[in-house]
Amino acid sequence: MSPKSDTGELRVLGIETSCDETAAAVVLRRGPGNGEILSNLVRTQLDDHAAFGGVVPEIAARAHVEVLDVLIKQAMDEAGLIWGDLDGVAATAGPGLLGGLLVGLMTGKAIAVAHGLPILAINHLEAHALTVGLCEGLEPPYLLLLVSGGHTQLLTVRDVGAYDRLGTTLDDALGEAFDKTAKLLGLPYPGGPEVEQCARKGDETRFDLPRPMMGRAEAHFSFAGLKTAVRRRAEEVAPLTDKDIADLCASFQRAVCDVMIDRTATAMALYEKTLGRNAERRLIVAGGVAANQAIRTSLEHLCAEKNYTLHVPPATLCTDNGAMIAWAGAERLVRGLVDDFTVPALARWPLDPNAAPAIGAGVKA
Ligand code: KG4
Ligand code: ZN
Repeated sequence: MSPKSDTGELRVLGIETSCDETAAAVVLRRGPGNGEILSNLVRTQLDDHAAFGGVVPEIAARAHVEVLDVLIKQAMDEAGLIWGDLDGVAATAGPGLLGGLLVGLMTGKAIAVAHGLPILAINHLEAHALTVGLCEGLEPPYLLLLVSGGHTQLLTVRDVGAYDRLGTTLDDALGEAFDKTAKLLGLPYPGGPEVEQCARKGDETRFDLPRPMMGRAEAHFSFAGLKTAVRRRAEEVAPLTDKDIADLCASFQRAVCDVMIDRTATAMALYEKTLGRNAERRLIVAGGVAANQAIRTSLEHLCAEKNYTLHVPPATLCTDNGAMIAWAGAERLVRGLVDDFTVPALARWPLDPNAAPAIGAGVKA
């Protein structure tokens, strides 16, 4: 398929089912950095998984099946569109839980086949990376810090489809570290907001916890050791009082903030080195952990010091949603990066640092 004219308007349906949120949205792309969300519906499965202290893949896949068709219909109705008004269907094809991905991608393909529309198989990470174009009209290049329950990455976003991974986690994702820390302290799932709230009442200097990876030349992360250190301290002072829990949360969050500042500063230097004069000093933070105020404040200070502007999409677009999938789909569609109907769902699908995509149909980032 040839690229659409960049002046033409595109209406794209976006479907997201990679984890524990079922989401459908319709986005109108008027031009570069000019998008409008016509509808954006998210059905969270939190209650389905809460009893297990984490996401259960089989439960997630079944829950997606139960609500996805109704949610898509609602998204179309709210947007005031009929199928014939659409220019394409975008569905998350990875990375994520395979069962859920299959539900969303197969549904997207079925709609596209039935209505003669192109299918856009979206990399979930790419969608997070491009969201700031939808909400702020910001176009690459910029530096991205993606921090969610499944991912912790620092990426140079050079262009749509062109990403350099500067850093990633060697073990747990940051959101996962928050969730596991919460669990071992007896706090409910998802743990991030709980830890943040408890930390507000705590003494961040009481427990001297490790700051893994600090000072390393590469911008990688590691959180497993930090989590284990919290466990050891908790065992030492058990039985835990509310004060102990608050102090452990505050000390943990302080360590995380110190790590985030150090790792992001390292990534800034790498970003500037690779892009040279083209390195626009802009840091985008996306993913559920971007909601954490303490981390955000730390990054604000860092950005002020390094002369960067900080951009954090609103919470509804930072966490998993269909609008970011639809927008990424529109960005690919306008470039002719349409997929074949044989495109598979992929549990693992990194935005490979060195694999800049060839231009053409079916090519993925
Ligand atoms: O992006 P997201 O909604 O879902 C994916 O993981 O894809 O991120 C959810 C993660 C969970 O691990 C949750 O505990 C964490 O984001 N989170 C937070 C906060 N709010 C959500 N972590 C720290 N502080 C928060 N305020
Ligand atoms: Zn996500």
